[in-house]
Amino acid sequence: MSKIHAIYQGKLSPIDEIKVSPLSRAYTFSDSIYEVIPYFSGQPLCFKEHINRMRNSAEKMNLNVDFDIVTNEISTLAEALSLKNGYVYYQISRGIDIIRSHMYEDDIEIEKFGYALPMDFPSSSISAMLCDDDRWGRCDIKSTSLLGNVLSMNQAKSMGCQEVVMPRDGIVTEAGASNVFYFDSSGSIRTAALSENILPGITREILINSLKGSSYNVIEGNCAVTDLDDSPCIWLTSSTKGMLPLKNLIGTNYKLNKSFKGFAEISELFSSAMQSHLAASE
Ligand SMILES: Cc1ncc(COP(=O)(O)O)c(C=O)c1O
Repeated sequence: MSKIHAIYQGKLSPIDEIKVSPLSRAYTFSDSIYEVIPYFSGQPLCFKEHINRMRNSAEKMNLNVDFDIVTNEISTLAEALSLKNGYVYYQISRGIDIIRSHMYEDDIEIEKFGYALPMDFPSSSISAMLCDDDRWGRCDIKSTSLLGNVLSMNQAKSMGCQEVVMPRDGIVTEAGASNVFYFDSSGSIRTAALSENILPGITREILINSLKGSSYNVIEGNCAVTDLDDSPCIWLTSSTKGMLPLKNLIGTNYKLNKSFKGFAEISELFSSAMQSHLAASE
């Protein structure tokens, strides 16, 4: 693999040359937040929205961050993508302790790390498994504390799946690394309302906005897991997946209805919204 371009504490270098302290609070406590910003032919999709979400995550964690520096570092990393598709991963931790301690010093210096990676975004349907959502109660913060997601997704992997759909008390929250949408049996599109139990996905927002004024009715609210059995199409949204339909969902009777036209129609509306966002970012 060619060298991955990275930045750590303001210094650019290949990723495998970076040395990180074991007393980084990212390492000891997952006391850190992150963003994944997708690039299409070198253009960022919804750059400002990603920075704003990171700003919100930082505020909710009481992290004092200079976002002008963050913005510059992400843009510098993105140059390594040239005109390719790919993403920039960017992480901010509270900093490095003198010795591990739950309570941090007020003057601790934040720790910033990022890298750029060219990648081809997937486009074919995937399999997923239903797994109870037993994550912590602040999934609206894009924190690196992802143990619940990691355990569930690896259980799903052992069943040949690429994702999980997570219900909490019978209500679908989101997927392991994506938001969840589906057509219900009466033809409406449903997704979980924003709350502390889900990440406010930027792709989710692009899709919902692209359907405003269309003939499709979008309901943001409670999504009963029992709805999924009768759905003709469930799909996931994320910055690196775009909109990906599920072919099956282990733990339910759902099976993708290949003759159902709704998904193809809304995919077109979503794609043209994405193109407008990309054109606006030039
Ligand atoms: C838990 C979770 N939900 C939703 C999303 C989708 O967010 P976005 O569309 O901003 O990538 C992600 C993306 O990583 C995620 O990790």
